[in-house]
Formats: sequence, C-alpha cells, structure tokens
Amino acid sequence: MHSTVDFINKKNNNFKPDIALVLGSGLGEFTKNLNGITIPYSDIPNFKTSTVKGHNGSLFFTELFNKRLVVMQGRLHFYEGYNLSDITYPIKVFKNLGVKTVILTNAAGSVKKDLKPSDLMLISDHINFTSKNPLIGPNDDTLGERFPDMSDIYTKSLRDIVKQCAKETGTDLKEGVYIMTTGPSYETPAEVRMFNILGADAVGMSTVPEAIVSNYLGLQTIGISLISNYASGISDTKLNHAEVVEMGKVAASKFTKLINAIIEKI
Ligand code: HPA
Repeated sequence: MHSTVDFINKKNNNFKPDIALVLGSGLGEFTKNLNGITIPYSDIPNFKTSTVKGHNGSLFFTELFNKRLVVMQGRLHFYEGYNLSDITYPIKVFKNLGVKTVILTNAAGSVKKDLKPSDLMLISDHINFTSKNPLIGPNDDTLGERFPDMSDIYTKSLRDIVKQCAKETGTDLKEGVYIMTTGPSYETPAEVRMFNILGADAVGMSTVPEAIVSNYLGLQTIGISLISNYASGISDTKLNHAEVVEMGKVAASKFTKLINAIIEKI
C-alpha cells in the first residue's frame, strides 16, 4: 500500500482527492472535456489493469467545483479472473489518499419493464449474488470491523442529496436494488425472473465488492446504474456488450449533468 500511495503522491504533486468516482462500462466520456493528471494503472505499483473493451484503465485527477476528484477510468471485474482483493484495492488506496466519498457507477440490465434502457437508477441497496465477499480473510482491525454493518451501505443522507440534484437538474432518476452476478455470461430468462422475485431492479457484474469495502472503510458511498438494456427475457432481443457501451454514449450528457451536480453539492 505504501509504495502505491507514495507513487501516486509523487506523480500528482500530493493532490489529496476528496471524492472518488468509479466509471462503469461506456461511461468514460465523463472526463472528456476535463483537464487533469492521468496515471495509467499499468504504471502504478500493485494496480492490476482492466482487460475489458470500453474500460480505459487509468486514474485521472482533476478539480471540479473546488472539490478534488480522483476518477477511475475503467474498473476491474471478478469475471476477468481477478480476486476480490485486487478489485477492491483501489478503494483502499483512495481511503489512504484522503477520499471521504466514493461514487460508484455501472451499466446494468433492467429486470422489470418499467425500468427502461437509458434510465438512471440510484442504488438504494444491493444483493450480493456471487457468494463471494471481499472481506474474507484475516481482518485488519485498524481498517474496519470484522463484521461490518451493511444497513446503510449506500449512504442514506447522500441518496437524499442525489435525489435533490436530480430534481434541480431535471433528471428523471429511478431508485432501486442492484443485484450482482459474477458474469461473464449474461443471465438466463429464468434467472432474471428469480431476481425480480428476490426484489432486485437491475442486474450487473460489478460495484458490490467496491461498495462493501467502501462501507467497511467508513467511506460515504453512492451507487448509480445506467440501465443499458432489458435483462434477458424482459424483451425479445439478445444481449451484447456493444449495446451496453453504446447506451453509455446515448446517456452521457444526462449522466454527466447529474454527476456534476452531485459533486458540486456534496
Ligand atoms: N446483465 C448483467 N450485467 C449487465 C447487463 C445485464 O443485462 N447489462 C449491463 N451489465
């Protein structure tokens, strides 16, 4: 951890970010018109690099509305073969850099008709359907509790602020429960029907490990899903990753507007 943090501090002149923003599939456009310092994951000691198309693989440091921001351009996924400690390592680094708030974003499939492709969904809670947990293993009591509470994992007070931001920017923001599968295969229609019965609104292959670790470390956490498609069986069309990335571009401007408003307000 020390070598990672020292390296980053040297590269960005001790820029101490307040907020971390993790960009999901197809949402990389957010940083397009911003100036800042980019550090590729491949340069950072102990960082793994993402292998997925549409995921850049770098940290980007910038200032917005007088807030210092670190953006993860591209995240790691369990289905790439990484273990959960590699996937959540960046969150621990952010905590060490001084981050107080983590905004996790992703693309997800809707498991019900009234949540439509291109909708934005504020994550109110999640279901970890992977039977894996990033906190398995010896616990470092200096970081967090052995058995951390998960009742307010997506910080309620911040969710209220996000909803206020959506109102003020005229953004139609849904709210719902995100369920994570390991992927990489998409779900079967029967699985999607089951997820609906279980109380999920959207399904995806990320975010849950990072949210668990962020909450464990005492960081405030926000999760936002871009609904990129109807999940399997909700509509007749077959699923493909290109469609997921494409929807990120379609929704880029409302996504950027909402994230900007959130960063300004928190
Ligand atoms: N299922 C799982 N993950 C996803 C989906 C989906 O339909 N869309 C985007 N990520």
